[in-house]
Amino acid sequence: MEMLSAYTLPAPTFDQSLTLVGRGTPMGELLRRYWHPVALSSDATRTPRIVTALGERLVLFRDGEGRAGLLHERCAHRGTSLYYGKVDDRGIRCCYHGWLFDVDGKCLEQPCEPAGGARTAARVRQPGYPVQELYGLIFAYMGPPERMPLLPRYDVLEELAPGEFIEADDTSLGSGGPAIVPCNWLQHFENVMDPFHVPILHGSFSGNQFVAQMALMPEVVFEETERGIQSIQARDLGEGQLHRRITEAVLPTVRAVANPRAESVGSCSLLGWVLPIDDTSFRIYSAGRVAEPGALARIRSHFNGKLWHELTEEEHRELPGDYEAQVGQGAITAHSEEHLVTSDKGIGMLRRLYRRQVERVAAGGDPIGTRFGDADALVRLSAGTAIVAADRAA
Ligand code: FES
Ligand SMILES: [Fe+2]
Repeated sequence: MEMLSAYTLPAPTFDQSLTLVGRGTPMGELLRRYWHPVALSSDATRTPRIVTALGERLVLFRDGEGRAGLLHERCAHRGTSLYYGKVDDRGIRCCYHGWLFDVDGKCLEQPCEPAGGARTAARVRQPGYPVQELYGLIFAYMGPPERMPLLPRYDVLEELAPGEFIEADDTSLGSGGPAIVPCNWLQHFENVMDPFHVPILHGSFSGNQFVAQMALMPEVVFEETERGIQSIQARDLGEGQLHRRITEAVLPTVRAVANPRAESVGSCSLLGWVLPIDDTSFRIYSAGRVAEPGALARIRSHFNGKLWHELTEEEHRELPGDYEAQVGQGAITAHSEEHLVTSDKGIGMLRRLYRRQVERVAAGGDPIGTRFGDADALVRLSAGTAIVAADRAA
């Protein structure tokens, strides 16, 4: 066959409605119908901190009563960044003219106005978003107030064994890499529905990064659930035994993936939320059941005994991991140049599910998995690992 000249390639394009996260974009509006973790609880202090989520710059702080606040960065007066503000017992005070805003954005004082703004301050509101704290994370709802769903709770983080507690972490991809990853969030989230890369990228190409059974090529069934897409993977251990592993991509961006570095079986002990920082960067917030402090941060891929950030450039090429694979697709991958095949079935199902939810939101509906009012906020997951007899694989 003649070579396909790269000269003939049309200009690359990507599906904007799946990738872009700004307000007013199709995916941006879908994502804004859910709660997203935007910080660790410990990040909210008397020192204001910039949080960028879904392309919006916000200021996070904690007032003297212990309440976390997440406000629009630009002061409602004349736009100075509240990053330079000072937090006191009642709220955050802008450095420029001293307006004081509480965690709900209510203006309490205008020191340069008559009587300190006693008659005028209440007319001003600093915009912001509601937050709730759960699992050591701060969740924000950045969508239309009248469509705010319940903050989900997850069975795997609620049902603890004696001695277990929940720990949160924000340090890395888990599979190696820095806290902030410079590519579109969907490249990472789709990877959750790509069990076939595991025996290649993690099981042989770069040595074996996970436990031995993960290096086996699985047989996989993909299914749509009432919360996302799941893959049911079977790996033949021989002697009539199968390693059965279920991973879930839960909308909007929750990874329910059992630790591939542990031999233990049982329900998935760890959830990861992919937070799109903007269109071309994301980070992961995780929460998991642990028995010792610091356990989550220790679940990291090692490459020849080294952590990702300890590798030289040569070693990154020698031992690539998820970071190299996903960032290597480009800032936003060119969908027009892909060749999706049978092993990409989970990716296709996930994209179609997102497209349907985008349409549902555009048509005025509420997307999959959202619950309201008195509904039970507890989500029951199937993700986990088991060893089963080969004849009971299905
Ligand atoms: S700009 Fe913030 S108080 Fe004036
Ligand atoms: Fe991976």
